[in-house]
Amino acid sequence: MSAWKKHEIFEKNSIILVIGILVAISVGGLVEIAPLFYLKSTIEKTEGMRPYTPLELAGREIYIREGCYTCHSQMIRPMRDELERYGHFSLAAESMYDHPFQWGSKRTGPDLARVGGKYSDDWHVEHLIDPRSLVPASIMPGYPFLAETELFTRDIQGHVSANTVVGVPYTDAQLEFAVADAIGQASPDTDGAYDFEERWPNSAVRDFDGNPRKVTEMDALVAYLQVLGTMVDFSIYDNKANLR
Ligand code: HEC
Repeated sequence: MSAWKKHEIFEKNSIILVIGILVAISVGGLVEIAPLFYLKSTIEKTEGMRPYTPLELAGREIYIREGCYTCHSQMIRPMRDELERYGHFSLAAESMYDHPFQWGSKRTGPDLARVGGKYSDDWHVEHLIDPRSLVPASIMPGYPFLAETELFTRDIQGHVSANTVVGVPYTDAQLEFAVADAIGQASPDTDGAYDFEERWPNSAVRDFDGNPRKVTEMDALVAYLQVLGTMVDFSIYDNKANLR
């Protein structure tokens, strides 16, 4: 029987064909994917990455809750137009503490992977309250309630704890004082802020929403947006080399 005749067995019996497909995909998957879980070089070593502070993490939850990801990606692809617009392409290490990651592929609005530091806190607050007051042609919805709504803190420690389970290296103190630190980061010149700075030496303490009376969802979301893409120092990478 020639090889072609043997192939007829697959072509004439759908069950055997399905089993054949599953075997082929399983072998291919094992060979391609399994080594990535064990290779040390899958995520290249990158200096500067730290876990999100409790306030940033809470902001990230709001980002997911409000569906910002349905219009915004957070992954700069290694293609010329992307590099010229956004800068260095995204590294795997930049989302190593993102559970789940926010790469996405739907871009109704611009990519946000490097939006941190691009605008002031005030700009973000005004833009989130009423996007068209700053960008007249914007089709982004407004989120004015974020500035009114006090941040719900009861689940923050749970979120930090859940992240430690999947391998994010929070210290015991960062976990224990997660709620106090969420408040402290947005309350400059308070005892809470000083305690926060001790546990989080490389993080910004600011009144992100410009309202010192309460810590709002706006504080958390702006803290999150302002840290995006700022942890890794890309000035040491040669983006021009990527453009060649
Ligand atoms: C319906 C789609 C849509 C949704 C949902 C949406 N956006 Fe936008 N966003 C846009 C568009 C379009 C722009 C570009 C125009 C503008 O700046 O308003 C934009 C711009 C932005 C910018 C400025 C980016 C830059 O580099 O100039 C930020 C920051 C932003 N959005 C954050 C958010 C956040 C946070 C949320 C969720 C609370 C959100 N967006 C939800 C469509 C959306």
